[in-house]
Amino acid sequence: MKVTVVGAGNVGATVANVLATKNICSEVVLIDIKEGVSEGKAMDIMQTAHLLNFDTTVTGVTNDYAATAGSQVVVVTSGIPRKPGMSREDLIGTNAKIVKSVVDQALEYSPDAIFIIISNPMDAMTYLTFKDSKLPRNRVIGQGGMLDSSRFRYFLSKALQKAGYPATPTDVDGTVIGGHSDKTMVPLVSLATYRGIPVKELLTEEQLTEAVEATKVGGATLTKLLGTSAWYAPGAAAAAMVEAIALDAKKLMPCCVYLDGEYGEKDLCIGVPVILGKDGMEKVVEVKLEGEEKAKFDESVAAARDTNSKIGDALK
Ligand SMILES: NC(=O)c1ccc[n+]([C@@H]2O[C@H](COP(=O)([O-])OP(=O)(O)OC[C@H]3O[C@@H](n4cnc5c(N)ncnc54)[C@H](O)[C@@H]3O)[C@@H](O)[C@H]2O)c1
Repeated sequence: MKVTVVGAGNVGATVANVLATKNICSEVVLIDIKEGVSEGKAMDIMQTAHLLNFDTTVTGVTNDYAATAGSQVVVVTSGIPRKPGMSREDLIGTNAKIVKSVVDQALEYSPDAIFIIISNPMDAMTYLTFKDSKLPRNRVIGQGGMLDSSRFRYFLSKALQKAGYPATPTDVDGTVIGGHSDKTMVPLVSLATYRGIPVKELLTEEQLTEAVEATKVGGATLTKLLGTSAWYAPGAAAAAMVEAIALDAKKLMPCCVYLDGEYGEKDLCIGVPVILGKDGMEKVVEVKLEGEEKAKFDESVAAARDTNSKIGDALK
């Protein structure tokens, strides 16, 4: 499988690096507008091939979409990241134009590709890509839920450790749905388990709230520490999605997709559990949301619609 990663910054380079080490793609092409950056990062990654034992060829190009031709997956990371104090939504003015332009160019050379959108505000950028490209919805998927769910598992494992259970993140199952946004993502406590045991039975209300709140501001916390947004977990999350598609793994993953009646919603892209396989988003999995979780999902939908309403102006 040939994969293109647009944007060779922190997240894009990490996607390429993690994909290479997974050794599941024949070729990964990194493309950026900054002269030499993609070429340099691709060469650096290739110089780990012998050390890390992979056969994937990673190449880097500047603005040359011909080199991306025939990609089966295109991962879009181009655009500006947030600085401390900014929300993801603050980036729409710059990133909408960038995302639209790179998707148009990539699609010209890879008309059959599945697009994974990472650039923020991701839910709105996924919606923009879906609407603008006119691709079927299975081929436009946003990355946010995989990252937020991984953060949720991390914070739940820390809470469990504090409560006396020797949990690591891989012992914990947890799903985050809704928008990829500090205020409106919805970590589903009701479904979270520690090796099959509901975490609600092991943690107090206060401990659960602490894990949920830490998850919601997980990105902002890292942005404050790093001065820019995170890249290791976002890159690994996107690579896991590419892997599910490349291997036709049919894995259940929380992703941002266009809803067409599922969860009682239409005409927006938001995070829900889906099955990822060779055709991209192969099925939306509906879980029954109740009480506070349903109310929070509805709030998240309203917030996503509000951001979508700003796309038109952002493209002017
Ligand atoms: N969805 C998520 O989970 C998630 C997580 C982290 C970051 N992000 C977002 O991903 C984006 C990238 O973050 P980053 O930390 O890698 O930023 P970065 O600044 O390190 O890299 C962005 C790269 O995009 C390139 N770029 C800009 N315009 C381009 C264009 N027209 N064509 C090709 N490349 C172009 C830049 O030159 C730069 O190298 C940001 O919008 C950020 O908010 C999303």
